[in-house]
Amino acid sequence: MSTDSVTLLRQYLEAKRDAGRTHVAISAESVRALPGLEARLERRLAAGGEIVAGDAAAEVDTGAGSTVAEGTKAERLARVRALAEAAPEARALGTLRETMVFAVGNPEARLMLIGEAPGYQEERQREPFVGPAGEKLTQILKAMGLPRESVYISNICKFRPAIDGGGDQGTKNRKPTELEMRVCLPFVMSEIEIVQPVCIVALGATAAEGMGLSGAVGKLRGQVHQVHGTPMIVTYHPSYILREEKEGGGMQVKRQVWEDMLAAMEILGLPISEKQRGYFKVG
Ligand code: URA
Repeated sequence: MSTDSVTLLRQYLEAKRDAGRTHVAISAESVRALPGLEARLERRLAAGGEIVAGDAAAEVDTGAGSTVAEGTKAERLARVRALAEAAPEARALGTLRETMVFAVGNPEARLMLIGEAPGYQEERQREPFVGPAGEKLTQILKAMGLPRESVYISNICKFRPAIDGGGDQGTKNRKPTELEMRVCLPFVMSEIEIVQPVCIVALGATAAEGMGLSGAVGKLRGQVHQVHGTPMIVTYHPSYILREEKEGGGMQVKRQVWEDMLAAMEILGLPISEKQRGYFKVG
């Protein structure tokens, strides 16, 4: 998938038009960023570089500019968090809820996990993966020998997607749309740039799509993708394991997720015991 600023702007305007809007507010920052973005992408093409998924989003000015270039990782992340809180492009969509849920974990982490979007529990606690899927994720990390606090956990969409206008939607959640993910992607790319993880794990097809890949997890797993030089593994979302377990199954998906996590451990250079290798082994 190749993306550029024009596509980004067109999708934004089309979504507004489809929602019946005849006028839109675009921040001065965005308007200023677009011509610069075009030029940067063109320069990269002229230099023989390839434009890959995530490039345009990574280049879009989040408003961060040089203000996030200095300081410790924690300080820089705090500045990106403040920018995400304002996120005029995301808020202008009118399809995401009010509360921003940024990320949690160690700014110095070697492993970064990316989910899809906060749900009911996450919105209440303003922390990613704190509901049942989060418990499952914490168990998986523990089996890898990694305390939850040692990794960095983020979501491709920083707001809980709204249902029926976003009033009281109870515990109902929905997946973020491509556009909702796209307007949040610059924040995620900034997080990657700041944390500089050794390995990224995308949890589920939606997160993978948000990171510019397309296809089912079954097709995307079992290979090492690249995000600007950082290896990325794709695996099933912990909610999928929970759904399968609820139906009395789950063994196959658990085995596959574990294989993917072993691949991540290898990239991270973590020791893998015989016991760990043997989890879910058949026969
Ligand atoms: N599912 C996600 O993808 N992210 C969360 O933060 C919670 C559930």
